[in-house]
Amino acid sequence: MSKVLTAVAGRRSYSRVSVDAPSHAELLPLVEAAARVADHGALRPWRLIELRGAARERLGEALVAASGKKGERDPGMAAKPLRAELLIAVVASRQRSSKVPKWEQDATAAGVAHMLSLLLADAGWGVFWRTGPLTRATTVRKMHKLADTEELLGWLYVGGVPANAKAGKRLKIDPEKFLSAL
Ligand SMILES: Cc1cc2nc3c(=O)[nH]c(=O)nc-3n(C[C@H](O)[C@H](O)[C@H](O)COP(=O)(O)O)c2cc1C
Repeated sequence: MSKVLTAVAGRRSYSRVSVDAPSHAELLPLVEAAARVADHGALRPWRLIELRGAARERLGEALVAASGKKGERDPGMAAKPLRAELLIAVVASRQRSSKVPKWEQDATAAGVAHMLSLLLADAGWGVFWRTGPLTRATTVRKMHKLADTEELLGWLYVGGVPANAKAGKRLKIDPEKFLSAL
């Protein structure tokens, strides 16, 4: 099996991660490589935002504020972003183009996130891509300082693979069912 096939076939998500996290400098070469996804017109219609420390707490506050009217808010949302030391917000950053529609640009942004997840996993980190019903709430948008042309695609929660992590069930597919011909 090729190294790439082994890495892709063996990838799994880690819902719980330890407090270790890759540094900004460690992330850079992975982001550079992830940017090699197919990108119609090379528009680079994406960007990533690192949330560490207090930034995660500010995201928690934004989630609480988005969770309901005053008096009906869910304080439990505050702890959600604290499940990893590093969250990487994945932003679809749509560029003006007469040739490349939004959905194609979003496909590239999602591709970068998948590729980065895989590269992080290959480097030994635990990763979990999370969203939720409040991902596109106004308070959450504002907290990330998104432009009107941008949308959040969720966050990669990144940390160390816990020493006691179980092997985890890998759901297999029957490729015959997913690959047909006309
Ligand atoms: C865009 C996107 C958003 C996701 N959001 C969540 C989420 O909010 N909660 C969740 O439990 N899983 C979410 N998932 C799925 C997990 O990241 C993960 O893929 C799933 O738990 C299966 O584990 P596996 O990747 O090891 O097969 C999301 C996946 C994607 C691609």
